[in-house]
Amino acid sequence: MIKEKVIIITGAGSGIGKGTALAMAKEGAKLVLADIDSEAGEKVCLELLDLGYEATFVQTDVTDPVQVENMVAHAVNTFGRLDCAFNNAGIEGQLVALDEIDLDHFEHTIAVNLKGVFLCMKYQLKAMLKNGGGAIVNNSSVMGLVAAPMISTYCASKHAVVGISKSAALDYVKHNIRINAVCPGGVATPMVSQVLAETPDALKDILAAVPAKRLATTAELAEAVIWLCSDRSSFVTGIVLPVDGGYTAQ
Ligand SMILES: NC(=O)c1ccc[n+]([C@@H]2O[C@H](COP(=O)([O-])OP(=O)(O)OC[C@H]3O[C@@H](n4cnc5c(N)ncnc54)[C@H](O)[C@@H]3O)[C@@H](O)[C@H]2O)c1
Repeated sequence: MIKEKVIIITGAGSGIGKGTALAMAKEGAKLVLADIDSEAGEKVCLELLDLGYEATFVQTDVTDPVQVENMVAHAVNTFGRLDCAFNNAGIEGQLVALDEIDLDHFEHTIAVNLKGVFLCMKYQLKAMLKNGGGAIVNNSSVMGLVAAPMISTYCASKHAVVGISKSAALDYVKHNIRINAVCPGGVATPMVSQVLAETPDALKDILAAVPAKRLATTAELAEAVIWLCSDRSSFVTGIVLPVDGGYTAQ
């Protein structure tokens, strides 16, 4: 499905990014792994190389335009082109009511979750336009579709990822570039572990609210991303795909 495709994954050092990297590598993709955390990102890259897969790591803070431009240049210099991108890097921000959110935290959460997606798309699109096509998948969240208490900055940033993905999809459909968003529900990753550490009762609440009564695995998320990157979804653009065990269907 994605064999030989050159794919950038941001936030590839952990969680969903790492799980998607492994799943894409198994399907024969040529991966450009990017993360602000070079130790974690390089470790994932070495694991893939040891298994005989094709991958390279480039340290990237998605909030920095110079580093994002360099990430895309690294992909093109290493593998000759860019076919797809999974813009996945994100942070949860402060889990408090709005009046208690520090401005610095607000600005940083928006910078990673929204400006990061904007910058990644900006430079990825330039490379894809030279290719004559491509596919981008942005990682939003069920919090991009609905809301929950104590998470307003994250929720705002993820709603914005939905909006920017849909609008950009309309701009680039004529250039054979498809842009879609995925909206995971709870996925078993370090980000969720951190939320659970801060609010211990949260898992019970999360599972009570999920019709599937469990968290997703990173492999289940990867399936959706791989399909949206592949030519099998060739007529699919501008969609926002919940991968949430029925959470937003209620
Ligand atoms: N885990 C979930 O339940 C869940 C649910 C819905 C959406 N998401 C979204 O999925 C994405 C990945 O989440 P996860 O659970 O795998 O988190 P995670 O914390 O396990 O991994 C996130 C990765 O992003 C990297 N990162 C953070 N800031 C960065 C920056 N400025 N530049 C580049 N990389 C940066 C981190 O170093 C880390 O490796 C996020 O966008 C998150 O909002 C997660």
